Amino acid sequence: MTIIVTGGAGFIGSNFVFHMLNKYPDYRIVCLDCLTYAGNLSTLEPVMDNPNFRFVKESICDREAVDKLFEEEHPDMVVNFAAESHVDRSIENPQVFLDTNIIGTSVLMDACRKYGIKRYHQVSTDEVYGDLPLDRPDLFFTETTPIHTSSPYSSSKAGADLLVLAYHRTYGLPVTISRWSNKYGWYHFP
Ligand SMILES: NC(=O)c1ccc[n+]([C@@H]2O[C@H](COP(=O)([O-])OP(=O)(O)OC[C@H]3O[C@@H](n4cnc5c(N)ncnc54)[C@H](O)[C@@H]3O)[C@@H](O)[C@H]2O)c1
Repeated sequence: MTIIVTGGAGFIGSNFVFHMLNKYPDYRIVCLDCLTYAGNLSTLEPVMDNPNFRFVKESICDREAVDKLFEEEHPDMVVNFAAESHVDRSIENPQVFLDTNIIGTSVLMDACRKYGIKRYHQVSTDEVYGDLPLDRPDLFFTETTPIHTSSPYSSSKAGADLLVLAYHRTYGLPVTISRWSNKYGWYHFP
């Protein structure tokens, strides 16, 4: 099993890389990350010598580079963590959020269509649902809660989610999406 993990030099992606190499020592994990301010190659230092791990410094927006990687690795799965992920930065400069989070997602899925894939997983966020009132702990988001975004970040993630669902409906691409709440922990950019 070969899995391309995008954004694997960032906070959650790197934790995922460690988890997968540890739990599935026979899997090949290929990390595709262009190392923005949020990516840190030294985080991946402990696995750099692992023969089942490869790091590739390229952008998910670079169609040629993504296609080349698919030709080299023939991945079974793609897990797309790569994103501009900081809400405040999206308010200062939305463009790069649209480029990476929406266009980058489409480039990855086009490669999945072209070369074939068993599963494409899109890492999304519960921020696509908007806000819950702090004084109503009885309320929850569910998968059927309407999308109600409130920042360029969450709008770009919601746009990507809709595109992922469209690639499933239109082209039959095998996709899954997870919409997590916020986290903090090891390897988070300060
Ligand atoms: N951190 C959270 O609490 C949280 C909550 C919900 C969802 N998410 C989602 O989880 C994913 C990972 O979040 P994180 O907090 O680890 O983010 P992060 O900002 O720590 O890491 C993002 C990684 O993506 C890389 N990257 C950015 N643009 C790229 C591009 N064009 N090509 C290749 N790599 C690129 C960066 O270099 C970095 O390594 C994101 O999709 C985010 O939207 C995060």
